Amino acid sequence: MSATAPVRPVLPPDITSRKGGVPLVVLTAYTTPMARLVDAHCDIALVGDSVGMVLHGMPSTIGVTLEMMILHGRAVVRGLQKAMPVIDMPFGSYEEGPAQAYRNAARLMAETGAPAVKLEGGQHMAETIAFLTARGVPVMAHVGLTPQAVNTLGGYKVVGRDAEAERVMADARACEAAGAFSIVLEKVPVGLSARITGELSIPTIGIGAGVDCDGQVLVIDDMLGMFTAFKPKFVKRYAELGAAADQAIADYAAEVRARAFPGPEHGFADQVKS
Ligand code: KIV
Repeated sequence: MSATAPVRPVLPPDITSRKGGVPLVVLTAYTTPMARLVDAHCDIALVGDSVGMVLHGMPSTIGVTLEMMILHGRAVVRGLQKAMPVIDMPFGSYEEGPAQAYRNAARLMAETGAPAVKLEGGQHMAETIAFLTARGVPVMAHVGLTPQAVNTLGGYKVVGRDAEAERVMADARACEAAGAFSIVLEKVPVGLSARITGELSIPTIGIGAGVDCDGQVLVIDDMLGMFTAFKPKFVKRYAELGAAADQAIADYAAEVRARAFPGPEHGFADQVKS
């Protein structure tokens, strides 16, 4: 066996080096088929804990477990050849302290093959980010609206307006100083996200944070029009696959009830032709 296993074509330092260049393209993915589609066009496939709401019908991301992230992470990694996978650390898997975070990040990386994790939090997570990065765990940070804190934030609100701006700025600075290789800015006002992007030397990846970020991320089911329970203002639907699927299922149901499906071309002859 060779001493060096093949490494992924894109690794966290490559992402960091894209600062200020052509914007980074990021989408979430949770399954192998979606990962294959994302791989063809994106730099990063984020296995977000949004999987809980999008695929499992959960009311928030709070109930997502490490086992769910490992299962979906493995499925996504199988579908990628060039885009870099990043796996979200779920609620409760890292907040106790650096040792807990390391143990669970190591599981996510070892059991999925992903080269990086993402975790939510700014200044209060800086010690944990530093601990992880010093031990071989590249971290994508996530500040502004952090959905795992929805109950303390009081909803999915814009974070960083008025007096709150300096706190979000300090959160972003703390994540960079702790060694994060990139940072997600979620629902941060556009002026503030431009300021953060201008000041930090790591790429900012925006979701509802304006066009000045170093990259953009969306939840794939949102942008494909497959998740229709609600549509955040920052989502642009590039397709209406939910409506197309609804129509297809309605057509199928009607044809089955009318005995119009299956047709003769979908059946098998009783005898093989000689
Ligand atoms: O879980 C997720 O999909 C995310 C993105 C929205 C950034 O964290």
